Parts: sequence; structure tokens; C-alpha cells
Amino acid sequence: MTTSTTSTTSSPESRQAYEAFQKSCPDFLKTAILDELRDRDFSRLDQQGHVYLDYTGGGLYGKSQIERHTALLQDTVFGNPHSTNPTSLGTTELVERTRQHILEFFNASPSEYGVIFTANASHALKLVGESYPFELGDQLLLTFDNHNSVNGIREFDRAHGAKTTYIPVAPPEMRVPEALLESSWSLAKKGGHNLFAFPAQSNFSGVQHPLDWIERAQERGWDVLLDAAAFVPTNRLDLNRWHPDYVALSFYKMFGYPTGVGALIARWPALEKLHRPWFAGGTIEVASVQADRHTMAAGSAAFEDGTVDYLSIPAIDIGLDFLESVGLDQIHLRVRCLTGWLIDNLTALRHDNGRPLIQIFGPRSSDQRGGTITLNFYDNQGRVIDHDVIESQANKKMISLRTGCFCNPGAGEMALGISKQELVTCFTSSDQGMTYDDFRLCIDGKSTGAVRISVGIVSNFADTHTFVEFARQFLDQPGS
Ligand SMILES: Cc1ncc(COP(=O)(O)O)c(C=O)c1O
Repeated sequence: MTTSTTSTTSSPESRQAYEAFQKSCPDFLKTAILDELRDRDFSRLDQQGHVYLDYTGGGLYGKSQIERHTALLQDTVFGNPHSTNPTSLGTTELVERTRQHILEFFNASPSEYGVIFTANASHALKLVGESYPFELGDQLLLTFDNHNSVNGIREFDRAHGAKTTYIPVAPPEMRVPEALLESSWSLAKKGGHNLFAFPAQSNFSGVQHPLDWIERAQERGWDVLLDAAAFVPTNRLDLNRWHPDYVALSFYKMFGYPTGVGALIARWPALEKLHRPWFAGGTIEVASVQADRHTMAAGSAAFEDGTVDYLSIPAIDIGLDFLESVGLDQIHLRVRCLTGWLIDNLTALRHDNGRPLIQIFGPRSSDQRGGTITLNFYDNQGRVIDHDVIESQANKKMISLRTGCFCNPGAGEMALGISKQELVTCFTSSDQGMTYDDFRLCIDGKSTGAVRISVGIVSNFADTHTFVEFARQFLDQPGS
């Protein structure tokens, strides 16, 4: 057992808890390589006393990734890839190698899929939204638990007279009732353009929606946009098994570094369907000022405005090597074990009068869910303890967690029981645009957000145990 497996100041109680944990998930021992990795490549966490529980917000990078990237930058002369001179060609080779590596990582055939470099997942989603050929009567279908960067696509479809429909998720599990899916898919306009977008994993509830929705929706006339941002850091997305038309992701969520680069991975026919609303340097084959005409470049180049982030892109190649050397299956297994233990131990916390301290908004088992757990704390009278209080107490203990609604208002509204009527009333009562504080006041008495914890690549038992002990301090607190 390495120091980071349990805790640097491991008490008899925490050792006992660790033994019970191991019994509950014996396979955890198979992931010991991740404890070694943490000691070797992420030692800054324990040296500085961090308990990092916000992997859904941002992944962490290993020191060795940075060393490899720094060495590459120090030893290479990089030119702008839009030329054919030697430094430019060298850069182009690295960019194209990374593109190829991304396809290999996701098991995507280059004859089926192309990779477009974007600034992040949001930018990839926007590229689809602004270019999708929505027309009057076309359909955009969304699940309630989409991230705002997917919700925003409704502004494009609205501008073209298309219709947006949301499929609710049902608390407490926060999954989509099967019957609703079938009726929603039947809305597809025959011969029209129909776009169905859902997260492979909700960044609110951790729910992993079934990937067989992709094919089932396509069979009913939908193009499918899969938001994979929260899924791919700890789960394998096999694009030889699943064939979404568009996939959006951010690389910093997978391996921490670099920030500022994401990708849209798209099937070639789906890419051809998109019409860019403008052109830019790099996206055209030819353009003329006097003739007032342009021809778009072929393939992914048509979607990469200006110069791609060619110094950071090779760090993605390195990051993918890193994940491959660690093994995504090991990461997945570890996350599953820790998530299951967290759910069991947090839901077991009861005040003296038997009332639960914690309510989890999402699945209560580790099946078909990822390592994101959203919850609220309640006092012994069942009143919610404000998430800001939890956050400020967590900060004092160097626990990094997330509070609010995590850019996922639909899931938040369903989980916290805020009705459409209440929301409409709040928005119409504020004539100058609602601020977050207005909103809190308006739905006074109800929680406006929650606490989110998430585990990832080098999370260990000590991290999760520390959080459960932190939660325990709110039991039967006077006035809490
Ligand atoms: C499910 C999901 N989609 C999209 C995004 C947006 O990612 P980015 O902020 O990197 O563009 C996030 C970020 O948290 C996310 O979790």
C-alpha cells in the first residue's frame, strides 16, 4: 500500500475503512499502477495537501507529459503549418500525426471520420450548431441534462424557424424514461434536417445514457450529436462500434494539458451536410475580392478558422500516449470502485433522528454512471444546507469541489424540483435580465444549486475517505 493509497497520516479508522473498501471492490487492487503513477507524476497533489475532486471540471496532467512537451518545444523549430517550407512541413506532420492518433484512440476509421481541431468542446458544438442546415419545420431534440454549450444550439435552430424539443430526465435517477424517447424520435420531420444531441455522460448526474440511442435515433431519421466531454476521460468511446454523426470533446478534461484544444470528430457525410456561415484564412480553397466568390477547402480544413494551435496540438499526441500507457480500463475500474464506495458511504450518513444528511441527484449504484456525483446536504430538520457553506468549509480543508448548477440548468431544475412556472415567473419579473442573485431570491426557499464531486485518473481512497469524513462533520450540527 503506497502512502497515497490511504493517507499520509493514516489513522486506524481510515485503515479499517480502506480494508472494508477493498472488500467491497476487490478489483481495485488491479489498479495499483495508478497509485504509483500518482506518487511519480502527480506528487504535487500530496505534497501540497490537495484533495482534488473536480475531474469533471478539469482533468489533471502528469509531470512527464509536460517534460515531453517542453523537450519537443525546445528541440524543434516550428513554422506556421499553412506553408510548404521545411519548418512548416515539420509542423504539419506533427499536427497530422496527432489527428491520426485521435482517430486511432477512438478506434475510428479515417475513411468514416475526420477530426477538426477546435478551442474546446463548446467550440466544436458551436461549429455544428451554426452550420447545421436548419430550416422551417426542422427539429432539434435535446435531453434536459445537456450542458449549456449544447443548449445554446437552440438559438441557431430558432433563428431558422426550426423547433426545439426537450426530453425530461426523471429524478431521482436522472435517466430518460424509455417511452419518452420513442415518442420524441417520432417527431423527426420526414425529408427534413433533424438533430438529436445528448451527453454520453451527464456532467450533472454522472448518468451514462445508452449509446445504442445513436443507431436507434439514426434509424428514425435523426443526425446524432454526441457530447462526449464528460465521458471520454474515464470511459472508452469506440467509434467502430458506435457511429454518432458528430462528437464533441475537450482534451484538458482527458489528460489535463493542454487547455485550449478540443475536437469535433465527425463522419464525412455529416460534415458535408454542414454549411459554414463564413470563411476565414485556412478554410478556403480559393477566394476573390473582385469576383466576390470563394470555394471552401475540402474536409476538416474548412472548419479550422485561421491557424490551429500548432504548438499545443503535439501535446495531445503526448497526452494520448500517456493515457494509453496508463490504460483507460484501469482508470475506468478505479473510478467505478471509488464512486460506488462514495455513494454507499455518503447515503449512509444519518442524523441522530434518522434523517439523511445527503441526497444524491443521480443513480445510487455504479452501473451505467461515471465518477461524477451531485448532491446536497440537509440538516436534521430536512432543510438544505446552502452549497456555498459547503464549498467554503471544503476550501478550508483544501478539498476542490464544484458547486452551483455546472452549466447544466435542465438537470438542476429537474433535480431540485423547480417548475417551469416558477422559472418563467422569475424571468418575466426581472425586466433587465436576471442575475444569479436575483434568481436565488426569486425561488427563495428552494436550493438553487448543488455540490458536485468527481473522481478521475489518480483519485485514491484517501481522497474519497477525506470527503466522507468532511461530510460527517455536518451531522447534527446546531443551526446547520
Ligand atoms: C458534458 C460537457 N459538455 C460540454 C462541456 C464544455 O466543455 P468546454 O468548457 O471545455 O468547452 C463540458 C464542460 O464541463 C461538459 O462537462
